[in-house]
Amino acid sequence: MASIGILLFFTAIYIRTGNTNAGFVNVKCQAEKVGQYGQQSLLQCVVETTQDVVNPEIRVVTWKKEGRPLLVFHGEKNKPQPGYSFAEPSWNKRNMNVSLLITNTAVEHEGVYKCTVMTDSGDGEGSTSLKVTAKYNKPTIHSNPEKITLNTDVTLMCNSDGGYPKGQLRWFDEHNTEWTKSSEMEAKQTESGLFNLCSKLSLLKGSIFTKYTCKVFNASGDKEEEATFEVQNPTPDHYTGEELGPASKIFAPVVVIGSLIVGLLLALLIYRRRSQQARRHSTTPLMSDHRELPICDYDDGDHQERDKTCQVSPV
Ligand SMILES: *[C@@H]1O[C@H](CO)[C@@H](O)[C@H](O)[C@H]1NC(C)=O
Ligand SMILES: *[C@@H]1O[C@H](CO)[C@@H](O)[C@H](O)[C@H]1NC(C)=O
Repeated sequence: MASIGILLFFTAIYIRTGNTNAGFVNVKCQAEKVGQYGQQSLLQCVVETTQDVVNPEIRVVTWKKEGRPLLVFHGEKNKPQPGYSFAEPSWNKRNMNVSLLITNTAVEHEGVYKCTVMTDSGDGEGSTSLKVTAKYNKPTIHSNPEKITLNTDVTLMCNSDGGYPKGQLRWFDEHNTEWTKSSEMEAKQTESGLFNLCSKLSLLKGSIFTKYTCKVFNASGDKEEEATFEVQNPTPDHYTGEELGPASKIFAPVVVIGSLIVGLLLALLIYRRRSQQARRHSTTPLMSDHRELPICDYDDGDHQERDKTCQVSPV
């Protein structure tokens, strides 16, 4: 038993003098954290010690991101960069929860964080990474031209901003058929690192559906928001008064009065024809007496001609 004890002792010494003190102090961190833009983010790390370490005391804590110190506790001093603090409100050297709190998460906070701890019983280091997400805002859709008629091509424009990471805008018609292939998307990153997505969908005249939906999908392919654009019934006959200029207001009565005049003239013309015909009727018997057709010649056998050009002679 004694020899095993001695062996363990020397093994412990070996580990202590090695590059880590894993046997005594371990900084255990959550592997990855997804933080919401504009919210607090908690990067969890806890100092763990082996059972033989009684009442450990922390001497140094250093939180760094890509080499840049964010929070350093050394002795009694605690010097955080603005926006960073210990997650435990009244943290002290006996508190093994050394988690870091980021007050207002921004895109620039993405990255790998390292936490180094030195205690009176050994040192340890842990690391964690932060990913940032921001939800896209409800899209807005505009059409160009604003008024859609049957004989123009149309472009629909969909915009959604305030999201992160880069997402996608997709188009669907009222039958849920996807039209994204006919569209072109642009993603612009604003100063804050958030994305502004803009998609243009080209529609050809004569093949325009009545409803188009633009959906914004986040980087993991989940739908976040959507907006629907309804095409106002594109009628070929859009001369319905109100939308036309003042000229039409003069034009309309002119048409009405004009057609009345034409109607009256027509009526007059018909009336005159009738009265002329009536007069002629009274004269026809006289005229027919004078106009006698020749007696038909039955030998030629041309029956059709006979009726029109000759008279059957009384037998
Ligand atoms: C560390 O402290 C934070 C803030 O109080 C708390 O939310 C978290 O759960 C603590 N972690 C552990 C492992 O106790
Ligand atoms: C996408 O949205 C889903 C559902 O809201 C969410 O669980 C996921 O974390 C989001 N992913 C990103 C990268 O924003």
